[in-house]
Order: sequence, then structure tokens, then C-alpha cells
Amino acid sequence: MKILVATEKPFAKVAVDGIRKEIEGAGYELALLEKYTDKAQLLDAVKDANALIIRSDVIDNEVLDAAKELKIVVRAGAGYDNVDLEAATAHGVCVMNTPGQNSNAVAELAFGMMIMAVRNFYDGKSGTELKGKKLGIHAYGNVGRNVARIAKGIGMEIYAYDAYCPKEVMEGDGIVPVDSAEALYETCNVVSLHIPATAETKNSINYDLVNRMPKNGLLVNTARKEVINEADLLRLMNDRPDLKYVTDIMPVHHAEFAEQFPGRYFSTPKKMGAQTAEANINAGIAAAKQIVGFLKDGCEKFRVNK
Ligand code: 3PG
Repeated sequence: MKILVATEKPFAKVAVDGIRKEIEGAGYELALLEKYTDKAQLLDAVKDANALIIRSDVIDNEVLDAAKELKIVVRAGAGYDNVDLEAATAHGVCVMNTPGQNSNAVAELAFGMMIMAVRNFYDGKSGTELKGKKLGIHAYGNVGRNVARIAKGIGMEIYAYDAYCPKEVMEGDGIVPVDSAEALYETCNVVSLHIPATAETKNSINYDLVNRMPKNGLLVNTARKEVINEADLLRLMNDRPDLKYVTDIMPVHHAEFAEQFPGRYFSTPKKMGAQTAEANINAGIAAAKQIVGFLKDGCEKFRVNK
């Protein structure tokens, strides 16, 4: 059995070593396709792979057609919007993710970007502190919960909106649940996005919603670029010179944001949220173990294309 790790953005070496130990320990062969720049390289590498470990790498119908021996794809991470689930099901391929394994890393980066923004991107002028400010967590999943834990230490007032999470869970964590996204944005000085990219959420962060934020509002995106209505946000930031936007996922209109909003906008060059040795080890080894469990025992825990 050949297990291929196909990562355009590679794991730390220590994580690859851990993955190798799991895979070879189970008697399988490990192949690596790292930092590939062309889809043709992926199409070639998947030809004889029985299992695939990926990150944000796009697995579409063409890749699945090329991967004649493929039985399972594990997205080492949370969001699986990069995998065509319907096509995978049609090809008889099981798709899994590794929920929670990289969420602390993403949460820590959200605070790194938050502090940078409220300190005016370190331009030397007086900024503000996070302590005592109202933080809105938009979606209370694994990352949202880690964000809440860190925000408590900083001394923020914490609010959350999540249509799918029972209020009791948030209350149990000492978080104030709010009834709508609108209420969250109206209440909070800082909103941190943790929604997945789905048909329901794409373009949902729009002019009307963000415009509800109080003066000097800060929007932090470590989720997905697709959830932002970029045309709306460009217009709003022109209309509201008090607003700031920091993102770990470079917008399609990055050049316009950077040019129009110096000192109010920042994007990492490449998604960095899960790019820590710890997150790579956790998610990579979890992916390897899930593949071994699936191939040896038929374990389908964490399957997402039911
Ligand atoms: C995730 O969905 O797990 C995060 O967005 C991390 O994605 P990455 O593995 O591409 O860094």
C-alpha cells in the first residue's frame, strides 16, 4: 500500500518524520510530493497512491480520475472545502478530516494579528489594549473555543454566535451567547471569524453585517477568504475609515485593500494559521493514524462524505 503526502505547503520535517513512523510501522510505503507548483505533478503522483494526506490541496474530479487506486483522502486539518466530496463519493473514496488538531495554532495566530492591529501595526503611535474590550467569536467550534480560552487570559469580555452550538455549551465556558450574527457585530469591538466556507457562509460577511460594528471595529479572519464579500468590505472600509481588517487568507483583491487602506489592513502572504510544528505534528500524525485505522480495520471515524 502506498500512502502519498501531497502538500503544496509542506509540514515541518518533524511532522513528516512522525507520519513516516506511523505509515512504515504499519507496513506501508510513504511517498512525498511537497511544494509542488503544478497540478500535473499532483496528477502524476496520485496515479498509484492508495491513500492521500493533504492540507489545503485541491482534490477535484480530475485528481480523483487520475487516482485509480485511491481508497481514502485525509485532509490534515479542519476545513475540507478543498475536496470535492460528491466526486469522492462517486469514485468510492472515503474523505476524512482531523478536527481540533491544529486549532490552537490558528487561535494563537488570531491573537497575534489582533494585537498587531490594535497596536497600529507597530508604527510607533499609541494603540489600544485588548483587555476589557468585547470580543465576538463568530462560530464556536474547535478554534473558537481556543480563542475564548486565550481571550479569558487577556481579560476580554467574550461573546459568541454559532447557530449550531447549544447556548449551554457557551455558557458553561463562561461565554455570552448571542442570538444572531447581527447582534454579535453590533456588540463587539473585535470580531474573530471561525466559520467554514459553505454554500451558506460564502460572501456572508457583507457590508450590512460589518457596518454594525462600533467605531474602531476590528475584523480578524483566520477562517476562509470565501466567506468575505470583498466588494462590500472594500466599499465599507472606504465609507468607514475607523475600521480595520486583518486576514490570514489573502483576499482576491489584496492589491486594492493594501493600496486603499494602509495602516488598516494586513494579510499574511500565505495562510499561516496552522503552520506550527505542533499543529503539523498533531494533524499529520492523526491523519496517518486514521489512514492505518481505515485500511487495517475499516474505521470510518471522522469520515465527512457519509
Ligand atoms: C484548516 O482548515 O485546518 C486550516 O485552515 C489550516 O489549513 P492548512 O493546512 O492549509 O494550513
